[in-house]
Amino acid sequence: MENQKITKILVSEEEVRERVVRLGADITAYYRGINKELMVIGLLRGSFIFMADLVRQIKIPLIVDFMTVSSYGDGTISSGDVKVVMDLDSSIEGRDVLLVEDIVDTGRTFSKVIKMMHNRNPRSLKTCTFLNKPGARLVDIQIDFCGVDIPNEFAVGYGLDYAQGYRNLPYVGVLKPN
Ligand code: IMP
Ligand code: MG
Repeated sequence: MENQKITKILVSEEEVRERVVRLGADITAYYRGINKELMVIGLLRGSFIFMADLVRQIKIPLIVDFMTVSSYGDGTISSGDVKVVMDLDSSIEGRDVLLVEDIVDTGRTFSKVIKMMHNRNPRSLKTCTFLNKPGARLVDIQIDFCGVDIPNEFAVGYGLDYAQGYRNLPYVGVLKPN
């Protein structure tokens, strides 16, 4: 294993590439012919690497924007609400929007963001996640473009962190218990 702290690889570097290429092709095919550029919105920070790879595989005109949300309020107790830490730069009203996440776990975060985005009246709204943990889902959400289903384990790498570390691993793995 390239990294001493990783016990198992869930998605190898080669598989990451294959999955992103396939997602890009699916998204390109789906949106071909739209009259305005596609608006691709990444949720920070986890999606930054996936976004960078994905948009280069989408072969239609697009623009990108980012948003940072946190699942917790200012206190230590989870409010169960998402808080917008950094909002989008541009309006999504009347636009075709593709929301991009690194991972959907319980689905709580993404479902709140999807609702918030719907309230801003986009022309259309679709969702894309690189990783999906179907076994952890508590809130039913629609994922239109999904990279890889993974088991219910804590994943790091390819943008995903543990205590802000490991985001730069070029593959997705599971940390050793310590
Ligand atoms: P949710 O449970 O679907 O709301 O997941 C919310 C957020 O938790 C995701 O956007 C990730 O930032 C983080 N998260 C969930 N599962 C993992 C994981 O396995 N590794 C790293 N971050 C995770
Ligand atoms: Mg996240």
